[in-house]
Amino acid sequence: MYDVIVKKRDGGILTKEEIEYFVEGYTKGEIPDYQASALTMAIYFQGMTAEETATLTQAMVNSGETIDLSAIEGKKVDKHSTGGVGDKVTFIVGPLVASVGIPVAKMSGRGLGHTGGTLDKLESIKGLEIEMTKEKFIENVNKHKLAVAGQTGNLAPADKKLYALRDVTGTVNSLPLIAGSIMSKKIASGADSIVLDVKTGSGAFMKTLEDSEALAREMVDIGNNLGRNTVAVISDMNQPLGYEVGNANEIKEAAEILKGKNVEDLRLLSLEISSHMAVLAEVFPSYEEAYAALEANIENGKAFQSLRTLVESQGGDVAMIDDLNQLPKAAYEIEVKADKDGYVSAIDAESIGIAAMYLGAGRATKDDQINHGVGISLKKKIGDPVKAGEALVVLISDDEEPVDSISKVKEAYTISDKQVEKPTLIHNIIK
Ligand code: URA
Repeated sequence: MYDVIVKKRDGGILTKEEIEYFVEGYTKGEIPDYQASALTMAIYFQGMTAEETATLTQAMVNSGETIDLSAIEGKKVDKHSTGGVGDKVTFIVGPLVASVGIPVAKMSGRGLGHTGGTLDKLESIKGLEIEMTKEKFIENVNKHKLAVAGQTGNLAPADKKLYALRDVTGTVNSLPLIAGSIMSKKIASGADSIVLDVKTGSGAFMKTLEDSEALAREMVDIGNNLGRNTVAVISDMNQPLGYEVGNANEIKEAAEILKGKNVEDLRLLSLEISSHMAVLAEVFPSYEEAYAALEANIENGKAFQSLRTLVESQGGDVAMIDDLNQLPKAAYEIEVKADKDGYVSAIDAESIGIAAMYLGAGRATKDDQINHGVGISLKKKIGDPVKAGEALVVLISDDEEPVDSISKVKEAYTISDKQVEKPTLIHNIIK
């Protein structure tokens, strides 16, 4: 291990054997944390070639179980978002892509942070069951083209251990290590192809377009090097996506899109991601044909029907998505108002996320309970004119005076005298 550390410290390129030796040894506890820390710091400063990064990723995949989806007919395409506030794209894209016959076998997690994760949000729908046997999961995907289940199995344990170490040694922010970490979990989940939604902007993990593009490039190269066709969409996270943040209210907004409502940014991004998935699944020869077919399935109701089938097949109360007013909703609606006339020039997505968490929409620690019925409805987005006293957001709260959330929302909004452009939604596509 000493030789491996020194080689990377001096800018050398590690061999497959050296990388595998490190990942296997560290996972088994044979290589101590101090040597692993030294190596990750050397990687932080010296970087890795695309080949080294792919080898590292494959070694992390091999450190644990992998999910075998070969019993599902057709090409399986997965999507992954690097995370943003109001990001309910999965609930739109899953049914939409399934509605054109592409199998979507979605394994998701719970959230630690601003709002719940995919599973928590889905559990806003009464009765919806996300624990199921592997056989049932595969049967559902074959029958209905769509199933969402909780992540089971011990996927990429090397990543879990390394990530915890990086977190306390100042080595999270290394492109090959981030890219390898994310892709190891995606590849272990068994998809043939992957569409990545890499967020960029103030509310994203990567704040600048340049960094987001570099991360996307690393991940696309890993996927392609390991035999998974991968496309990354770089999308804007300078404000929350859509108008709803929370659990039930994100499900509500996603269902509304599938019912044909035009929430511009959310609908566009969902169609963009779905179209790339449909091309990777080899169901459509071109992006344009995929886009037209997917859009048609929103208009003709097939996409919403696909969401209904998902809810029904997993034991959920379909009445709640037929009539979205039946979804859980907290007791009070509290307007947070603008204190001057002008134009909304910035909305710090992270602060909106934290305000939602204060209401109970997310978990600060893993044992916290989620309140599915609380959340934030944005009334104004960047570029909108606003008058003093008009609502910027409505807090949906079980607390009559959620003072911390109110002050966090006030902090999030910037109102300027001059009109500002709406931010570009899709910055780039990396293939
Ligand atoms: N998310 C991950 O899963 N891994 C990283 O290294 C960073 C963000």
